[in-house]
Amino acid sequence: MDKIVVRGGQPLNGTVRINGMKNAALPIVFASIATGAECIIENIPPVNDVLMALEIIREMGAEVEFVDIFQTTVRINPKNIKPGSSPSDMVRRIRGSIYLAGAELSRFGYTDVALPGGCNFGVRPIDQHEKAFAALGAEVESDDVHVTARAPEGGLCGTSVYFDVVSVGATINAMIAAVRAKGTTVLEHAAREPHIVDVANFLNTCGANIVGAGTETIKIHGVEELHGCECYTIIPDMIEAGTYMAAVAATGGCVRVENIIPKHLDCISSLLRAMGARVDEEDDAVTVTTGRRLKPINVDTRPYPGFPTDMHPQFSALFCTVEGMCEVTENIFTNRFRYIDELRKLGAEIKVNGKTAQIYGGKPLTGATVKAVDLRAGAAMIIAGLAAEGETSITEVESIQRGYSGIVRNFKELGADIEEIEFAKHIFIEED
Ligand code: EPZ
Repeated sequence: MDKIVVRGGQPLNGTVRINGMKNAALPIVFASIATGAECIIENIPPVNDVLMALEIIREMGAEVEFVDIFQTTVRINPKNIKPGSSPSDMVRRIRGSIYLAGAELSRFGYTDVALPGGCNFGVRPIDQHEKAFAALGAEVESDDVHVTARAPEGGLCGTSVYFDVVSVGATINAMIAAVRAKGTTVLEHAAREPHIVDVANFLNTCGANIVGAGTETIKIHGVEELHGCECYTIIPDMIEAGTYMAAVAATGGCVRVENIIPKHLDCISSLLRAMGARVDEEDDAVTVTTGRRLKPINVDTRPYPGFPTDMHPQFSALFCTVEGMCEVTENIFTNRFRYIDELRKLGAEIKVNGKTAQIYGGKPLTGATVKAVDLRAGAAMIIAGLAAEGETSITEVESIQRGYSGIVRNFKELGADIEEIEFAKHIFIEED
């Protein structure tokens, strides 16, 4: 897919089924290395970052095979993985590859992995990951290319870690690294995202002893050995779900978002209700209905259960359609506003002042050619295009494919006038 073309103005109506959560699947795929045994994992989202993670561990010697026709259940056997053998060029492509460090350190007492990639919205250090590994007794070294960590002769030792920053990645990596440490490890000021609970549940299914995941204090009681798991099912993707909820709020209509855990979307549902949308909840679905004009609100990104930073661009696109001024304050990352210039190409009136963007919505957006500057910004461009008058072309769509599976098909089934365009591959015909 080379670009996405959207012709705006259609309301969205129907049902969309949500995939497994990318940011839970990434650590769980890498954490399977720590178990050293065969794991069957269900509800794998068919998105490029997760497919890359599976390719990385396959390159390292793991057996990896999909066992269902939809390619969402995978069998991983990491028995023959060689530590420190991860392919750096692939590792550098995704942020999730940093979990290789915790997994290798836990199983082999040693790791050497290239620094991760990931969406470019400012500095994305790994000092809190290194702090946790060092607290466990590892000798940690890093430069601007890779990070190594080596456990002492006797192995890692349980410890206490107080994170200076609430970090999803560092919380997860510390949990994975500590599962075999001697004694108990206590993580304080830990992140509380649902995918952290999912990783803890996966590791516990494989014999670990982790309590408190989902709170700011997590205890990991070290165990001698881990085993595999017959079948672990990854939680649904709350950010994918929130993206469709924001989209129908921007276009008007009635959309049922199913195969979700509504609790994970409490913040999004509450914000949409405050704007005047109707949000009805069932056990595993929410239905968002909007018709009349929505009211402006302000949002601040916060660690879970606050407003997720990964929903910030999508809500900015929604705010462009709301009469009045909405403020988006980004408290997690230092430079997540790169997409604002792309919204301005559609006629959006936005002022950025430090961590806050003021969005003056209500004037119709006009279709234009825009770039998907990162994963969630790409989703925001689709939402803006769905609401704009005329045709919007979105380029650099590979960033969207990193985290969304079937997004064009889903929006088309909801009534959007949207298509993916493959540029004709140039065929050079040899002159006679
Ligand atoms: C994860 O990134 C997600 N990525 C991001 O989702 C998400 O935006 C982020 O968590 C916050 O929820 C994956 O799970 C692969 P952090 P992560 O560590 O773990 C600072 C998406 O769209 N920090 O919680 O890298 C950091 O700079 C992606 O799916 C340190 O200072 O995020 C940031 O300001 C984009 N030192 C804050 O903490 C560290 O050692 C939160 O980052 C680590 C982080």
